[in-house]
Amino acid sequence: MTSPGNRKQSLEPLPARLLAQPLDFIVADHHRHRVLCHLCEKLAEDEAFDPDLAGAIADHIETEHAAHIADEEQDLFPLLKRRAKREDEIGRVLEQLTEDHAEDERLAARIVNGLRRRIAHPEIPMSAGLRRTLRSFAVCERRHLAIENAIVIPLAKVRLSAQDRADLAGRMTARRQARAARRSDTPRDDP
Ligand SMILES: [Fe+2]
Ligand SMILES: [Fe+2]
Repeated sequence: MTSPGNRKQSLEPLPARLLAQPLDFIVADHHRHRVLCHLCEKLAEDEAFDPDLAGAIADHIETEHAAHIADEEQDLFPLLKRRAKREDEIGRVLEQLTEDHAEDERLAARIVNGLRRRIAHPEIPMSAGLRRTLRSFAVCERRHLAIENAIVIPLAKVRLSAQDRADLAGRMTARRQARAARRSDTPRDDP
């Protein structure tokens, strides 16, 4: 059985070289999402609050998870919509996934705010509402991942050209480079 420490490790960034195969990168990211779901449920169920785990979850949601949604919403889904054939009938599926992303971001914002508050004020017990939100996030996310892995990724593998994949890799790489540049520009409080 994997220890909680190892699970935290598996939320770490994926190897940058994997971005050269953007669909494989997205699938690898989906594996990390399953880890995130597991950790959210663990946090919701544990009596004792683990501030390190809470911080790892909040950090991951704000960075890697947000980048993943942007990869799909801004790049993969529009590209696939352009390349799909009428008989693929992917339009309604992508609309549903976009609605899921909106709900996902709403729950994610509540989780991040709740966990940051809880980390800053460990004397306050975690509310039943925050525990419910953590569980709901995990349930929604797992259903969403199943659809993307079963329908979207296999179709993208068939319909996207080598140039499409190279363009997608370039945009996903640029997104992460821009985020890294923003972080290095942010002044830090620590000495
Ligand atoms: Fe995804
Ligand atoms: Fe998604």
